[in-house]
Amino acid sequence: MSNTRTQVAIVGAGPSGLLLGQLLHRAGIEAIILERQTAEHVLGRIRAGILEQVCIDLLDEAGVGQRMHSVGLVHGGFEIMYGGKRHRIDMNRLTGGKNVMVYGQTELTRDLMDAREEAGLPGIYDVRRVSVLDFDTARPRVRYEKDGEAHEIECDFIAGCDGFHGVCRASVPRKDISEFEKVYPFGWLGLLADTPPVGDELIYINSPRGFSLCSQRSRTRSRYYLQVPLTNRVEEWTDEAFWQELRLRLDDEGRDKLVTGPSLEKSIAPLRSFVAEPMRFGRMFLAGDAAHIVPPTGAKGLNLAATDVKYLSGALIEFYRDRSEAGINAYSQRCLRRIWKAERFSWWFTQLMHCFPEDSSITRKFQEAELDYLLHSESGSRTIAENYVGLPLDFGE
Ligand code: APR
Ligand code: PHB
Repeated sequence: MSNTRTQVAIVGAGPSGLLLGQLLHRAGIEAIILERQTAEHVLGRIRAGILEQVCIDLLDEAGVGQRMHSVGLVHGGFEIMYGGKRHRIDMNRLTGGKNVMVYGQTELTRDLMDAREEAGLPGIYDVRRVSVLDFDTARPRVRYEKDGEAHEIECDFIAGCDGFHGVCRASVPRKDISEFEKVYPFGWLGLLADTPPVGDELIYINSPRGFSLCSQRSRTRSRYYLQVPLTNRVEEWTDEAFWQELRLRLDDEGRDKLVTGPSLEKSIAPLRSFVAEPMRFGRMFLAGDAAHIVPPTGAKGLNLAATDVKYLSGALIEFYRDRSEAGINAYSQRCLRRIWKAERFSWWFTQLMHCFPEDSSITRKFQEAELDYLLHSESGSRTIAENYVGLPLDFGE
């Protein structure tokens, strides 16, 4: 077995692991990133692409914001449709000048991978049998196999950035962790196409046929979603069937403007709310999807991952620079306070916009009345807007 030493061993090269690695590198802290998949596989995953200001600032701080600023699209509002009518949420006005940025997670991941390559510190991809050991002591270790050979990393800290199905959270003794979960009775069927988006801004649609979302990656690339039953399989959905169903959920203007084309990608994602508490176990931390999942309505997943990483990188920098454990001691509580508010918003926005199979007719009426109220009330619309752009970091302090 070969042995190496580093300061922070990062498990997972998704956005959380890569961003953490980059922020630590810029602060002169050594890290090794281990990833179970190949880099191509990681870049092939299509996920949401709406960045809050906090996330944009962090990417700038990590020195990887250049491409995002040149090709990302700044959006100051979005539309909500119900009862066949559209209503615009003017985020920028309602929040005193805040916007979001449309920039695909794939692009952001690529920028972070490139930055690591340039620094001569590429991650270790395609690793097998990762295990995390002794994180309840001052000398944690990570073991893995690569090309059939066993390796061990001795480190000061382990960062569990290995997503919902990762090994880090699963290695914590059950008595030390609490998990909260809600699984929704439907999924999102997503389609990516090189066609101009149907609108300048995103459109969230509450239709009697089910929720739908018109999103985009650029002025020439669209991303659309349809709420579908969990029993549906992606192979059952031809491109034509997808476009036809989307037309039925749109309004006349949308049907007129919709440009269809062959799909570049099509997949079904289940919807889940999940939080693990706490997020620190001795010398191991969880960050991003390893600790929490939100349903995609409102696109909070990546943004929450970014704030975890902001707090974790800050805490580790403080530990090495000032020999202070204050940041690492506060990490879990600081993250969870923000996470639960974004979890609440994502759950609420999901139940407001989707058809639930078990709903009675009166529940549907309540949903319509709530939308009617919120979208015609300044304070109701502001509530949506301020959550959508992301609550301030010092919210409630
Ligand atoms: N060993 C090494 N790597 C692993 C292991 C393991 N045992 N298990 C999982 N991984 C890798 C996965 O292959 C994946 O590349 O960890 C990575 C986790 O990445 P993500 O799932 O993208 O999670 P995260 O980086 O926290 O990003 C959060 O991604 O899922 C979206 O909505 C979410 O946008 C948010 C963002
Ligand atoms: C996306 O573009 O993939 C997207 C955008 C907004 C969401 C969810 C997904 O709320």
